Amino acid sequence: MAKREQWGTRAGFVLAAVGSAIGLGNIWRFPYMAAENGGGAFFIPYLFALLTAGIPILVLEFGIGHKFRGSAPLTLAKLNRRWEWLGWWQVLVCFFIAVYYVVIIAWAISYVGYSLSQAWGDDPGGFFFGQFLGLTEGPFDLGGLRTNILLPLLIAWGVTFLALFGGVKGGIEKANKILMPVLFIMTILMAVRGVTLPGAAEGLNYLFQPDFSKILDYKIWTAAYGQIFFTLSIAFGIMIAYSSYLPKKSDIVNNAFMTAFINCGFSLLAGIAVFGVVGHMALIQGKPVAEVAGSGGVGMAFISFPAAISTLGSLAPLFGILFFLSLTFAGLSSLISINEAAIAAFMDKFNLARKPAVIIYTAVATTCSLLFATGAGLYILDIVDHFINSFGIVFGGLIEVILIGWLFNLKSIQDHVNPISELKVGSWWQFALKIITPVVLGYMAVMNLKGDLTTPYGDYPQDALLWFGWVVMVVVIVGGFLLSALKWKDEQSLIKEVE
Ligand code: PHE
Repeated sequence: MAKREQWGTRAGFVLAAVGSAIGLGNIWRFPYMAAENGGGAFFIPYLFALLTAGIPILVLEFGIGHKFRGSAPLTLAKLNRRWEWLGWWQVLVCFFIAVYYVVIIAWAISYVGYSLSQAWGDDPGGFFFGQFLGLTEGPFDLGGLRTNILLPLLIAWGVTFLALFGGVKGGIEKANKILMPVLFIMTILMAVRGVTLPGAAEGLNYLFQPDFSKILDYKIWTAAYGQIFFTLSIAFGIMIAYSSYLPKKSDIVNNAFMTAFINCGFSLLAGIAVFGVVGHMALIQGKPVAEVAGSGGVGMAFISFPAAISTLGSLAPLFGILFFLSLTFAGLSSLISINEAAIAAFMDKFNLARKPAVIIYTAVATTCSLLFATGAGLYILDIVDHFINSFGIVFGGLIEVILIGWLFNLKSIQDHVNPISELKVGSWWQFALKIITPVVLGYMAVMNLKGDLTTPYGDYPQDALLWFGWVVMVVVIVGGFLLSALKWKDEQSLIKEVE
């Protein structure tokens, strides 16, 4: 078996992990989630989730990836031969995320161009759904491929392909070394200019004003936990794959803390930039911030924010370009990691070399992503995203902490991590993984399942939820078992201990 690839430098690894963590979620999800869930008060559950689930799981995933040197399926198989399916489950979740995440990046690329002239005019919503997406009547009415989405889609896949094809050090690390610093600079520029705009203070008030009456509402706690999992890219097998390329001497705990804090710091910065501009729009339109803010997600990035950009006068093109390029860069570095988690798994299992693995994988994934570049793309994306978030991640994470926390000797991982790390983990780490995280995730899993079974998601027809939601989940579960049932090309890789 060929020697496993390695990162060039420690900073290269941290940047790549941060690149995975910082994504669309930090820019369009975090600021709104905070604003809607108690503002400043949201930081209490958010920090709690970070300390009790985010960082402990990050340490765990960095630790097992480093110790067992494998993608998620290989690492889990080494932990226990019967757990490999969970690794494939996470890999399949990654695959389904990749094929729609890339399309959102494609939209952002198009909007970099539209920013020059504010092509959305004074009806950003109509422009987005109509002219741009060509949204059809429903999820089964595909309405053909949209060339204006197809072209940027190919660009996004092209960049991702080059990074993956170039390998861990020559491709992924290099790409992140360019994408991350540029992203930080762009976001700092937006934040600095954003807070100095007239009206910005009102926007920031909306984001930060604490509403402590919400703190007892369980919803803000589950929102915080959900956001932490999503934002730190944990329970996707991504961080396991990335840490499998670490050299022997690597400070696991410190790297985990750095990754988490840089990611969360970036979220704050993005929130300040976004709500500074939104506050300005409220002032110009003479309306309260709550009324013009809209809500997070696709609508925020492609409807409310374009409307806000249009109120910036001569600054508008610059702000538009900065904002959509930030989305693009943040998205690409995450997309690279999502795909690498899957590619590493196929390379391990079938003993494939990187280049053929990347070519075959990208060809398949690109083809599947075309479905989302049709007139029904947004509908299907919304359904797949909902199911993957509510079930794929929550159950995948829950099973991971139960298996490793309860059925494995967690202490052995602690004993692997501590001697090589400056900061040590101890009983709080064990307690967080064994008790707090399973309890919270278990609760979320039950609530989500109950929610979807009693009130079907959105206004979609039943069969659309069936095919793009439940069936996708079944594919993830059954596919996970099938892939794990296949024989390893090189049985040696399973028994060979860390050299
Ligand atoms: N963590 C990144 C984000 O917040 C990207 C990501 C999303 C990674 C989902 C994996 C899964 O957008």
